[in-house]
Amino acid sequence: MTEIQPRKSATPAPTSWEYAPAPESREVVTLRERYDHYVGGEWLEPSETYTTISPSSEESLAQIGQASPEEVGLAVAAARDAFANGWSALPGAERAKYLFRIARILQERAREFAVLESLNGGKPIKESRDVDLPLAAAHFFYYAGWADKLEYAFPNRSPKPLGVAAQIIPWNFPLLMLAWKIAPALACGNTVVLKPAETTPLTALLFCDVVRQAELPPGVVNIVTGDGRTGAALVTHDDVDKIAFTGSTEVGKAIQRELAGSGKRLTLELGGKAANVIFDDAALDQAVEGIVNGIYFNQGHVCCAGSRLLVQESIYEQLIGKLKRRLSTLRVGDPLDKNTDVGAINSKLQLEKIEELVAAGKEEGAEIYQPPCTLPEKGYWFAPTVFTNVAQSYRIAQEEIFGPVLSVLTFRTPDEAVEKANNTMYGLSAGVWTEKGSRILWMAERLRAGVVWANTYNRFDPASPFGGYRESGFGREGGRHGLEPYLKFDE
Ligand code: NAI
Ligand code: MG
Repeated sequence: MTEIQPRKSATPAPTSWEYAPAPESREVVTLRERYDHYVGGEWLEPSETYTTISPSSEESLAQIGQASPEEVGLAVAAARDAFANGWSALPGAERAKYLFRIARILQERAREFAVLESLNGGKPIKESRDVDLPLAAAHFFYYAGWADKLEYAFPNRSPKPLGVAAQIIPWNFPLLMLAWKIAPALACGNTVVLKPAETTPLTALLFCDVVRQAELPPGVVNIVTGDGRTGAALVTHDDVDKIAFTGSTEVGKAIQRELAGSGKRLTLELGGKAANVIFDDAALDQAVEGIVNGIYFNQGHVCCAGSRLLVQESIYEQLIGKLKRRLSTLRVGDPLDKNTDVGAINSKLQLEKIEELVAAGKEEGAEIYQPPCTLPEKGYWFAPTVFTNVAQSYRIAQEEIFGPVLSVLTFRTPDEAVEKANNTMYGLSAGVWTEKGSRILWMAERLRAGVVWANTYNRFDPASPFGGYRESGFGREGGRHGLEPYLKFDE
């Protein structure tokens, strides 16, 4: 018998694991110095511009138009013209062809779009590559499928397009929110004027190139850029038939007041303060992954983020221990690095809002935990944060922080979990973690939220309707429900 030799090695076994930089190349993106508005299939030179930056480096990327009411007027006129002269009369199967083309072009150019999205918005490339882009393309594929089946979606109701839809979107999922807005509108035979958020206009402007490649008739999709003033000009324009808005509750309320009595149709997707509820019989390691995904995905810039963690008391210590350990493995930094988990905060303004609320949390008496991590010097950053010892009355338990900040509360019984989860002005989403199917259904029936995820979180599918209760807004996007806000019926 040969003796087993003890293994000898000059280099000791590693005790820690360091990731080497894995930057995605920027080469695939070509930036222009200045971007114009896209109106009637042409570029319209803006009268005024501002600079868009990369929030991870504060580097200037391009000059962007700040659309005046006159420029907004030209876009609405182009959309009206396209609606009246061809688009609304086109058979659904023909409209579908354009939508299928857009979906395929988005897939083909996915890498370019993903890099640009991360560059302009600060989100990690692995999210823009694996979530935003595939979902945006899937939305166009999904609604392409409905375009020639509207009569079946709404039998005996003669669905007809509304006309010109004004669409205002936020900065957290720029291209995906564009897809959520444009795909159903076009499938139903409307034309659109879309305004991206002021901090993240670049993927919407690159999308104009997709529209051209797909040979969409001029004026069917128009993009105007600018801040809230441009948004307000679009909302108040006499010749728009429908407004679709995603953004803050504050602006949503102002739009609703503005439109009262005007006869214009409106859907609002506003904020949230979702409860993610962990029962003592849940698979804890999976739940920890769901908690992390729920609040640190996209730096917590997610309207349906699981920002209030409700933990059953009996597993509190164990779960918080696991969560803190997991947090120390999150990699914060360069959005274009393929290993990055948490990218840059979208803007200075948003960073200030997060800092203000976190300061309030400390002052009110909550206990803060942040894993050790070095944040880059330039740009806007915030470390993943957990607050324990949180009372329901604290601002960090009531207000939407829209950042990587989790507030932890506890409960003893399912009734108490429901009561605490529903103790919010919002009602967009919720999560439930338990082994028992019966408890999932019991909870889902009682949670006042548009979406309830069970043993998962932040899972999206174009076939599934999404939208809120109460101050989270009204109207649904996605699924067959998402067609209805873009149609009128003979009734
Ligand atoms: P915001 O509501 O001001 O911006 C969203 C969009 O509305 C942007 O395109 C903006 O230009 C436009 N807008 C602003 N004022 C307008 C007006 N008077 N009329 C028409 N359009 C207008 O949101 P903001 O200031 O960027 O973020 C503030 C807070 O809102 C965040 O901290 C977060 O809590 C919440 N928010 C929620 C979002 C969601 O997905 N539900 C998205 C963005 C922000
Ligand atoms: Mg605002």
